[in-house]
Amino acid sequence: MRTEIIHKELNTGGLLLVGMSPGKNLKVDIEQIATFSGLPPEHISEEFAGGLKQVRVLYLPKGKSYSAIALIGLGKNPSYGSICDAFRSFSHRLKGRNFSSVCLDGMRSSWTHKNLNFKFGLESALNGFLLGAYEPGLYKSESLHNHPMDKDGFQMKILVAKSKLAPSKAAIAKAEALSSTQKRIFDIVNAPGNKATPEYIANWALKSGEEFGFQVSAMDKQAIEKAGLHALLAVNRGSEFPPYFLILEYAKKSSSKKRTRKIGLVGKGVTFDTGGLSIKPSQNLHYMKSDMGGAAAVLGAFELCAKLQLPVSICGAIPLTDNCVDATSIKPGDVIGSYARRTIEVTDTDAEGRLILADGLAFLNKNYKPDILIDLATLTGSIVRTLGYNAAGLFSNDDDLANQLIEAGRVSGERLWRMPMWDDYKSDIESDVADLKNFSGKMVAGAISAAKFLEVFTSGHPSWAHLDIAGVAFGDSEFSKMKSAKGFGINLLYEFLVQISKEN
Ligand code: BES
Ligand code: ZN
Ligand code: ZN
Repeated sequence: MRTEIIHKELNTGGLLLVGMSPGKNLKVDIEQIATFSGLPPEHISEEFAGGLKQVRVLYLPKGKSYSAIALIGLGKNPSYGSICDAFRSFSHRLKGRNFSSVCLDGMRSSWTHKNLNFKFGLESALNGFLLGAYEPGLYKSESLHNHPMDKDGFQMKILVAKSKLAPSKAAIAKAEALSSTQKRIFDIVNAPGNKATPEYIANWALKSGEEFGFQVSAMDKQAIEKAGLHALLAVNRGSEFPPYFLILEYAKKSSSKKRTRKIGLVGKGVTFDTGGLSIKPSQNLHYMKSDMGGAAAVLGAFELCAKLQLPVSICGAIPLTDNCVDATSIKPGDVIGSYARRTIEVTDTDAEGRLILADGLAFLNKNYKPDILIDLATLTGSIVRTLGYNAAGLFSNDDDLANQLIEAGRVSGERLWRMPMWDDYKSDIESDVADLKNFSGKMVAGAISAAKFLEVFTSGHPSWAHLDIAGVAFGDSEFSKMKSAKGFGINLLYEFLVQISKEN
């Protein structure tokens, strides 16, 4: 697919996409469209007020600059997320159609809003449009790729004013890089536990590192034993697949003389979570193939930073295993060791994410000494009950870091909501027999006690944040019949790192 920037709407052919919001700009935009399409303004605005995801498609007679114009409603307060969604939804509907070119109109006045600048507006629209071609039928015998964009010779045009050339180029580069990485990440999160095994993900990471330019080393079971990652090994005891532990590094020097701060990223990579002997109910159990959403976000962020050559220094750790049932599985009440040399009473084998993250956090902190430490994990059902599907829970001991992450969440459309970490919750993880236990046994504040558990393994790191993404990594959408991957965290981490790169 070729993407081309144009400055005039003449003779481009194909389908024109126009994002529109309600309000006084709508009238101005409609008049402009009337002028170049020759359609009367009343006809254009018929049953279209710019409401979110409202769509009006106008077909033009032969000889006009476009064969059709699609007006796409962005709603009253467009955000990165809502624009991306509206365009993705419309793009998805184009599957099976045969437009040989699509032009995204970045010229209308309703593009720029008080909470969204031009670059993010254009980027989110293009990102959404490109994601609309995603095809979840990974293991179907016959390929279903039938989006106009999948066809040879398809042309994508971006219509913008000459004065907006620089932000447009930046928006296009980011949207293309982001959407292609997000689609690759959707694939590994949507892949089931018998396909996306720890070894499969390790190989995926090695290949991505080679292709895009970041370092990956994959520790196999022997190396994991040698390193003493006992908590990861304990969770892996019931598995038919050996565990892997990935270490990722990417660094590009910024032009400033200041020391580049190193950011450490840890992702929960449970390739399937049965709950272990504290087994989960069977309803919706198949969705636990997505329990590596944190690992996927970290992999996606590394790939995107390397692809776009962002001047940052990042290191990452990804513990990979599934959590299964076997005669050799850890049992509730078992006491296990950990990389940090703390003993853990496993009161619930379904609280396995915090066990493998404990080793990931302690290992990365000790051996790579990041200035900021961030982990992402589909960690608790409790955060889903608290925040639902619209925001991830943010836990942090550093207010500045928390605020920076919240802001990155706002601009990237991947929202975070801060949760408390008071020491009052610490007693929830005190054990009678070991240094600590992995589950309080209480039905309350589960996401907070999980965060307090992780905190122990950060060894007092002054700038740590934990993102519980259980409600946002995987979800319902119009793009699949069942829940599917959301790619949550990639754009958030990238925008956070863009801010860090500006401070370096
Ligand atoms: N992987 C789950 C958390 C989860 C729940 C992710 C829903 C996505 C959607 C995690 O390992 C888990 O099972 N957590 C338990 C912990 C409990 C036993 C302390 C939970 O939250 O129920
Ligand atoms: Zn679990
Ligand atoms: Zn889990």
